[in-house]
Amino acid sequence: VRVYVPRDSAALAVGADEVAAALQAECARNGLAVEIVRNGSRGLFWLETMVEVETPAGRVAYGPVIAEDVPSLLDAGLLHGRAHPLCQGLTEQIPFLAKQERLNFRRMGVTDPLSLADYEAMEGWAGLRAALALDGAAIVQQVLDSGLRGRGGAAFPTGIKWKTVLAAEGPQKYVVCNADEGDSGSYADRMAMEGDPFMLIEGMAIAGLAVGATRGYVYIRSEYPHAIAVMNEAIARATKAGFLGESVCGSGRAFTLQVRKGAGSYVCGEETAMLESIEGKRGVVRAKPPLPAIEGLFGLPTVINNVLSFAAVPLVLSRGAAFYRDFGVGRSRGTLPFQLAGNILRGGLVEKAFGLSLRELLFDFGGGSASGRPIKAVQVGGPLGSYVPESQWDLPLDYEAYAAVGAVLGHGGVVVHDDTADMAKLARYAMEFCAIESCGKCTPCRIGSTRGVEVIDRIRNNQNREQQVALLRDLCDTMTHGSLCAMGGMTPFPVLSALDHYPQDFGLAAPART
Ligand code: NAI
Ligand code: SF4
Repeated sequence: VRVYVPRDSAALAVGADEVAAALQAECARNGLAVEIVRNGSRGLFWLETMVEVETPAGRVAYGPVIAEDVPSLLDAGLLHGRAHPLCQGLTEQIPFLAKQERLNFRRMGVTDPLSLADYEAMEGWAGLRAALALDGAAIVQQVLDSGLRGRGGAAFPTGIKWKTVLAAEGPQKYVVCNADEGDSGSYADRMAMEGDPFMLIEGMAIAGLAVGATRGYVYIRSEYPHAIAVMNEAIARATKAGFLGESVCGSGRAFTLQVRKGAGSYVCGEETAMLESIEGKRGVVRAKPPLPAIEGLFGLPTVINNVLSFAAVPLVLSRGAAFYRDFGVGRSRGTLPFQLAGNILRGGLVEKAFGLSLRELLFDFGGGSASGRPIKAVQVGGPLGSYVPESQWDLPLDYEAYAAVGAVLGHGGVVVHDDTADMAKLARYAMEFCAIESCGKCTPCRIGSTRGVEVIDRIRNNQNREQQVALLRDLCDTMTHGSLCAMGGMTPFPVLSALDHYPQDFGLAAPART
């Protein structure tokens, strides 16, 4: 009997290794034949460790399982998918999963992440094989036609970026994956690397073929040791099997990959600081232009994309641009793996086409707050994203609709706060975060963030409150328009959204809008 126990960090954090060991030991003691497969996580975090058993009807899930539950689960007939208080029924029918549109994450938790056979059995390498039959311009055209936009947060059209690199001259070109994922509450990149690493490798190899780059780097934050280990092993296996190397799939075209580890700096997720870091220098932001597409790594043309952007590409090539473009709304095409976190009953990964509402995410998927109290504010798009008030929860989740109300979708992180949240304190936190993580290159961010903390403290202490609020708005204006990168430039999003939508938390009576 085949039993699946996830090896994803989220499952390991709640004892998945202990569950696997207990299952192995208990089955051996009882003479039960069992094959334990360490899969990725399905992304239903409130059920981790989620154990699945293969049955003739499909996989049956049990969760949340701890090691101590194993004897009672085996007694109840876990190996036959029988009833138990922890039984969740057929995995695919759990509503949280059944309602999703998993494109990027379709193999997530289904396969053994490091099994080339599993990957190949579920459309693996089909995109790369399709790309090998095309020239660079034709691959780029497919990506352009798919409507895919950068999933790191800025939503720049991926095809246009690749076209720029294809057209750029250089003795060597590079493909760099930004897997720094510094946004608090975001974890889709990590899950993708730990749970389906060949998908990223395939996407990056396709990018290399598209633009004529023969070398690639995956820049992973040091806080992701499991992702680093899985990616290193996956690259070794893909190279041995001929999907990477001097002759990709025997085509005579080269593409090699290496992992580079970050060192704990948030700003190294900014693409030019990341390039500095890969080059072995201190992670300080470079001025743009020149764009990395033209002068990137070691001054040469470089494609830089987020994990999820590369991960979307194999499917675009294997099923065609129109297939991908058919998902989504407006100019936001395809799907986004949203990441539910914070004070939410059912936290986890929800991959859906753009266009659903935050309310659907929070309640249909998330089941409301974990505390049972009313939800007050939701920060969408990471620590530099706006706090979205209830009046905006019915907007479609698409890049333009959010931009129109001064918010961002970013990387799809969704962090929930209930009515006990003090929004002035959270605004202060945003400024403090910026002060701690600023690379120091430009004044509005380096000095402005520290002044911002002081101004918010004065507002909270009711020292010249009205005047200090005006000063805070002025400061935010300077940071927005005068900062070199998104760190200083976007810190005003959480600060001003908190001030505008929750003025009472700043001791102000009426909504004060600019
Ligand atoms: P940006 O708008 O400056 O650039 C977006 C991308 O498009 C870059 O790769 C840039 O080089 C490229 N680009 C722009 N014009 C181009 C052209 N004409 N030709 C070719 N390429 C071109 O945005 P930036 O500063 O790279 O990213 C900011 C975003 O990062 C924010 O929206 C934020 O949501 C997100 N972010 C994500 C984090 C995460 O953990 N995923 C952490 C922090 C911020
Ligand atoms: Fe550095 Fe901040 Fe300026 Fe960005 S905005 S370049 S992080 S000082």
